[in-house]
Amino acid sequence: MPLQIVRNDITRMQVDAIVNAANESLLGGGGVDGCIHRAAGPELLAECKALHGCKTGSAKITKGYRLPCKYVIHAVGPRWHGGQRGEQELLVASYRAALALAKEYGCESLAFPLISSGIYGYPKDRALKAAVDTISDFLLENDMMVYLVIFDRHAYQISGALFADIAAYIDELYVDEHTEDRSARLRSMNAFRVEASAACEAPVCQDAIQQCADSASQTMSLVDALGRMDESFSEMLLRKIDERGMTDAQCYKKANIDRKLFSKIRSDKGYKPSKPTVIAFAIALELPLAEMKDMLMKAGFALSHSNKFDIIVEYFIEHGNYNVFEINEALFAFDQSLIGA
Ligand code: AR6
Repeated sequence: MPLQIVRNDITRMQVDAIVNAANESLLGGGGVDGCIHRAAGPELLAECKALHGCKTGSAKITKGYRLPCKYVIHAVGPRWHGGQRGEQELLVASYRAALALAKEYGCESLAFPLISSGIYGYPKDRALKAAVDTISDFLLENDMMVYLVIFDRHAYQISGALFADIAAYIDELYVDEHTEDRSARLRSMNAFRVEASAACEAPVCQDAIQQCADSASQTMSLVDALGRMDESFSEMLLRKIDERGMTDAQCYKKANIDRKLFSKIRSDKGYKPSKPTVIAFAIALELPLAEMKDMLMKAGFALSHSNKFDIIVEYFIEHGNYNVFEINEALFAFDQSLIGA
């Protein structure tokens, strides 16, 4: 996955460059800036002094010194003043400036903190959305592994209304399946067992079973059955991409799937993908729920109401929201594994 959201301390990230949420002086401060300077050592401050500051919405690059990364990109996000002073444009500009510098310096991997979302007071849900939108736009045109590093759990927040709506949806599907229906299902399963065992002792039933077995062996050998196998997951995926008039790159980028993984799937008709990979492609193709289930079935999976991950995915598909990053934000909020993580 070219964009991954991880929970970590950014100074521990093993990447080509990390981004610092700096201020215009570039002379250090609190928050992530303080952590980075402490971990990099005093040489970092010495190099920063020679840069003569940096305007809000821009970025400058230094070496990483004692950090595991090669470079530190110092990006200056805006302070939050209520949203009417161009904060969003400035925040997006700071991400773009950092991404452009990483590209210019040949970085293949880059880690961002959630710029402006701490001391500068930018609302965390909006800061997260701006980060994800800007990085994913960049990744449509560029190959890079970008990590969004979330330090504290509360920095990763979907809106309260969306959270409540998804929680209600989970309740409706999940609770039903697990509580009142359960005893009814057990009762009917027991009733079925009793009826079936009584019926199968009858001679007519034994005859029918024998007839079925004979005719099956005559009409369908294993070779026949294999010859009639449906199209594979890989074939289905390629067909759907064509039907939707997408290019391969448009599809795997929208799915947040790595190019190399896509090539493997493309060249191996019998490729066995993981469930999150299938879901990522189904989302990129904007398949309606029935088609998504069909695609999952090709790979041997199903969507189950016993699984919160599945219900959350279903919620977004039912609401026509195919944004893999927004779905991941919700999955994260409900402590589920992320699509592609
Ligand atoms: N790793 C990853 N993320 C972190 C870490 C860490 N080690 N430490 C904090 N964060 P902030 P800002 C998160 O305040 O809002 C400084 O004084 C933190 O939870 O560091 O852009 C500068 O010098 C938050 O989500 O940066 C500026 O004066 C995010 O990083 C000013 O603060 C950004 O929080 C910049 O404020």
